[in-house]
Amino acid sequence: MKKKIPQHVAIIMDGNGRWARQRGLPRTSGHKKGAEVVEQILEDADDIGIRYLTVYAFSTENWLRPVMEVSALMNLLRLYMKSAKSKCMKNNVRVRVIGDRTKLDADLVSSIEQLEKDTASNTGMHFQIAINYGGRDELIRAFRKLMPAVRDGSINEENIDEAVICSALDTAGLPDPDLMIRTCGEQRTSNFLMWQSAYTELYFTDIAWPDFNKEELLKAVEAYGSRERRYGGLTEENGEASE
Ligand code: FPP
Repeated sequence: MKKKIPQHVAIIMDGNGRWARQRGLPRTSGHKKGAEVVEQILEDADDIGIRYLTVYAFSTENWLRPVMEVSALMNLLRLYMKSAKSKCMKNNVRVRVIGDRTKLDADLVSSIEQLEKDTASNTGMHFQIAINYGGRDELIRAFRKLMPAVRDGSINEENIDEAVICSALDTAGLPDPDLMIRTCGEQRTSNFLMWQSAYTELYFTDIAWPDFNKEELLKAVEAYGSRERRYGGLTEENGEASE
């Protein structure tokens, strides 16, 4: 039987700090190693046949971390935006950033915009990086985006449906994640793709993000393949056609 591959995988990359502490290193070394792993996993995901990969790089809550750590994370993201172009062009990867950019430094925003523009016509892997992202914040921003159209009558209140809300989210045009992976033991989704993950299969592993690799990704894909997705409906085994 053909292996079932998730089209869209979302990853909560947890455990960089713990990984570093266990090695007597500063937390920022964990993030640095974590950033290298992201780049490798992007290639591995492509090899496996995953079409969309979305990673949680910085949440709306991560501003509460020590200033040094926030700035180390921002610098890693800066470095990525500035240096990723040639690899993305070679591998046909399209990069998009989701999250609220208004609180990011202007130079980071312009390098994000540049990388998005440079890779916009790539037709291979779709790579989304969530920066200053929170699912609740995304919904608030979506409602604010829609309000003027409701007020001026171009959208009728009764016409607000899932499609309208999806169109106002940062992920407009992207399919919902099929599989969400969280590393390093915690079993929660922490405000990541809250609306989009309504029917997403969840996979938790004890492996810390800096130790995550293709083998671990394949295990998650394997687990996904053995799940039965019903979207609230019934399956043939239950005597009804499934959705
Ligand atoms: C969670 O580990 C990880 C983060 C908050 C940051 C994740 C960011 C990266 C891996 C860099 C992303 C880079 C690119 C290029 C997309 P934690 O610090 O909460 O770990 P802990 O729970 O063990 O303390």
